[in-house]
Amino acid sequence: MIKKYSFMLSIAAIAFINCISIEKTVAQSTPSLKETFQKDFLIGTAMNARQIEEKDSAADRLIKQQFNAVTPENCMKAEIIEPSWNNFNFDLADKLVAFAAKNNIKVNAHNLIWHSQLPAFMHYMQSADSVKQYFEHHITTVASRYDDKVYSWDVVNEALNEDGTLRNSIFLQKLGPDYIVEAFRLAQKSSPHSKLYYNDYNIEQPKKRAGAIALIKKIQAAGVRINGVGIQGHWRYDNVPMADIEESIKEFSALGIEVMFTELDLSVLKNPWDNNIADVSAASKADSTMNPYKNGLPDSVAQKQAKAYADLFAVFLKYKNNVTRVTFWGVNDGQYWLNDWPIHGRTNYPLLFDRYFQPKPAFDSVIATKQ
Ligand code: G3I
Repeated sequence: MIKKYSFMLSIAAIAFINCISIEKTVAQSTPSLKETFQKDFLIGTAMNARQIEEKDSAADRLIKQQFNAVTPENCMKAEIIEPSWNNFNFDLADKLVAFAAKNNIKVNAHNLIWHSQLPAFMHYMQSADSVKQYFEHHITTVASRYDDKVYSWDVVNEALNEDGTLRNSIFLQKLGPDYIVEAFRLAQKSSPHSKLYYNDYNIEQPKKRAGAIALIKKIQAAGVRINGVGIQGHWRYDNVPMADIEESIKEFSALGIEVMFTELDLSVLKNPWDNNIADVSAASKADSTMNPYKNGLPDSVAQKQAKAYADLFAVFLKYKNNVTRVTFWGVNDGQYWLNDWPIHGRTNYPLLFDRYFQPKPAFDSVIATKQ
C-alpha cells in the first residue's frame, strides 16, 4: 500500500515539475519568427551578459527558437571591451561569437565608435593625437579580431543631432568631421568579410534623415564601403511614425544600401518629454502617471500595441527587397532597458514576449502578417 502511494506521489511530483517548466518556456508549437520571415529578412534580438553566458536557460531556448541574428546589448562597447588603454577584455564577446556559431545565428557587432559608454580614460583625453591613436587602435584591434566571425558591424553609432548636424562628440572635437569616413575606412581594412553599417535613432525623421543621407553619401564619395543603415526604432506603441518610416526606407535604399530596424521596441509608457529621445543621460523622477501598468498590461493597450507591430511588419514586408533585418532590443519585457530608463524601476511591456517568455498578442499579430 505505502509502496503504491510513494510511486503515485513521485509521478505527481514529476508532473508538477514538468508543468512549471512548460509554463516558463515557450511551447514547441509556438511559431518561429525566424522561420516565418526566412524568405524576407533576418529576425534578431539584443543579448545581455547572462544570456551570452547561458545562465538564462529560458531566454537562451527562446533565442535559439525564434531568432537568426543577435546584437550584443553592451559587451562589445568600448567601455567594456577596452576598459583601460590598450587592455582588451574579449571574454563576453568571444562567448557571444561562440554561442552564435554553435546555433547558426548571425552576429551584428555593436559598436566601434560611439560618444557614449566610452572607457573612463577617454573622458579626460585632451590631445587630438591621443584620441587619434585610441580611435585607430581600437577599431583595428577589435574589428580585425572578429573579421569573418561577425556578420556585420555598427561601425559608427548615433553621430547626429536631431537637426541632422554632427553631434559634438570627442571624436568630432578632436578628429574633425571626417572621423566618420575614417572609421569606415579602418573597419573596411580590418574586417573585409563583415558588412559595415551606420546606426542611429530617429533617422526616419526628415531633418535627421537628411543628415544621415549626407553622411552616407560622403562615405560613398570617398570610395569607402558602407553596406547599410540601421534605424533603431525606439518608438511608443501609440506614436509610430509610419509615413516617415516608409519614406526613409525608400530614400535610404535609393542610395543602394540595406535598410535595417536594429533596436525595435514599442514602449507603452510615457516619457517625461515624449519626443522619442533614447539618450540615457536624460533620466528623471517618477510619478504614478509614469508607471500605470505595474500590476499588468490592460488588454486594450496590448491589442493596440499588437496592431502597431502588425502595421510595422506590413511595411517591412512591402519593402522586403530593401529591409534586410529587424532586431528587437531584447528578448522579453522583463529583461529590458526601458524598465529603468528614463525612470528607474518602471514596468514596461515593449516587446513580443512577456516576463514568462510567453508570446503576447503582439507576437501573434506579427506572425499573422505572413498568413
Ligand atoms: O554592468 C554594470 C553593473 O556592474 C552595475 O552594477 C550596474 C549598476 O549601475 O550598471 C551596469 O552597467 C549598465 C549596463 O547597461 C549593463 O547593464 C549601465 O549602468 C547602463 O547604463 C547600461 O545601459 C545600456 C545603455 O545602452 C547605455 O547607454 C543598456 O543596457 C542598453 O540597452 C542601451 O542600449 C543603447 C544602444 O546601445 C544604442 N541605442 C540606444 C540603446 C538604448 O539606450
